[in-house]
Amino acid sequence: MSVVYLTRIHRFNAGHRLFNPAWDDARNWETFGKCSLPDGHGHNYVLETTVRGTPDPATGWVVPPSMINRAVEEEVMNRLDHRNLNRSLKLEYGCAPTTEVLVLELWDALTKWIEPPAALYRLKVSETDKNNFEYFGPQSGQPSTRH
Ligand code: NI
Repeated sequence: MSVVYLTRIHRFNAGHRLFNPAWDDARNWETFGKCSLPDGHGHNYVLETTVRGTPDPATGWVVPPSMINRAVEEEVMNRLDHRNLNRSLKLEYGCAPTTEVLVLELWDALTKWIEPPAALYRLKVSETDKNNFEYFGPQSGQPSTRH
């Protein structure tokens, strides 16, 4: 089997504020610093979606590029682009909309759009030039424990 990994890149913008609502301002400041300031702040996120599979002999494609585009359009652009992530995420993996929490929720949202025998392999979300976060799915030995 000749497995090929296809990555598509999408960009979106969103705002967030990192804080734990159970804590007071002093503890939030101590933990999250400027990220906890009440007005929040924004990021220009870059999402890399990698799908793995064997090219379909009829097309030569692992999946049609439109399959990934449609998934990202529905689950990312329509739900999160130019939105407040504190309100737009489910926050099942953590109480603050960090990019760790974001990448886990994006996996849950996007994986169902990729039709077998292809499968979602990796998501990478870059928050800034210095910070990026990758997730390879729950079968990769990284437990995705819900809070
Ligand atoms: Ni931030």
